[in-house]
Amino acid sequence: MKHFLNTQDWSRPDLDALLRQATAYKHEKLGISLKGKSIALVFFNPSMRTRTSFELGAFQLGGHAIVLQPGKDAWPIEFNLGTVMDGDTEEHIAEVARVLARYVDLIGVRAFPKFIDWQYDRQDVVLKAFAKYSTVPVINMETITHPCQELAHALALQEHFGTTDLRGKKYVLTWTYHPKPLNTAVANSALTIATRMGMDVTLLCPTEQYILDERYMGWARDNVAESGGSLTVSHDIESAYAGADVVYAKSWGALPFFGNWGPEQPIREQFKHFIVDEAKMALTNNGVFSHCLPLRRNVKATDAVMDSPNCIAINEAENRLHVQKAIMSALAHQ
Ligand code: CP
Repeated sequence: MKHFLNTQDWSRPDLDALLRQATAYKHEKLGISLKGKSIALVFFNPSMRTRTSFELGAFQLGGHAIVLQPGKDAWPIEFNLGTVMDGDTEEHIAEVARVLARYVDLIGVRAFPKFIDWQYDRQDVVLKAFAKYSTVPVINMETITHPCQELAHALALQEHFGTTDLRGKKYVLTWTYHPKPLNTAVANSALTIATRMGMDVTLLCPTEQYILDERYMGWARDNVAESGGSLTVSHDIESAYAGADVVYAKSWGALPFFGNWGPEQPIREQFKHFIVDEAKMALTNNGVFSHCLPLRRNVKATDAVMDSPNCIAINEAENRLHVQKAIMSALAHQ
């Protein structure tokens, strides 16, 4: 049984098939491929796009979605094995996943890091526990990667450039300032899918402390070796933006400060000028701009960049609906 935990677990032909099916759903919204089927959407963190697009996607294909928020409208869940559960958790993932799997055909999970210990968070404990105990396919709705966003992003780029072949495009993943240290999931995912598509990828970040986890840097190197393209790390804004075809922005916390964020703050504060603005975009090759959203305007990107015809963030967000319908359909009929 196949899950959708990371795009790296899927072959390139299978990812391409998902993108083709997503395009078909974009043209023909309604279908019956989930008729009589259901998905449990388990949210440990807030969402606007993910919840809406999964719920609506299931409905449009004849299926049904049930949203559960453990600790809010569902019981708090224990993930550690062998724990004497005399604290706040009321039931164990071993029961939760197995019971849900008796009811539904698919399970989606959103579980962000706890931001205390990266060595713990990088194990993706919650997602892996669902996948371990569930007897139905599990979909990653964002944990330490965001593979659904990856496919929506890839589809938006293919649509913008009018081709499924993105090889040779200069792609800049730029860190941006945010007042809080954020999840690295979307950055990990952008690096993964951009290299998978064979683009010439630059990771632009303020200092080496902001380089991503070695697992995702390694995936990117593996992808470059297989798909062509290249991977460069840069701390220089002008040369990174020069001639770029794609600028993708995201903020994230520096991993060496994980759980001890105090000393990271004054470093981060020095790099507010990483904001994506008109001057930087003018250095590009009439480059396209995108972001996963939500985005703080005039902190991460200026109004002018967000309102520019070269901004495809809204199309990327729309594509979440179409790619997730393709993912749910594929997993429900394996
Ligand atoms: N991009 C994204 O996942 O948006 P939400 O957090 O609103 O779901």
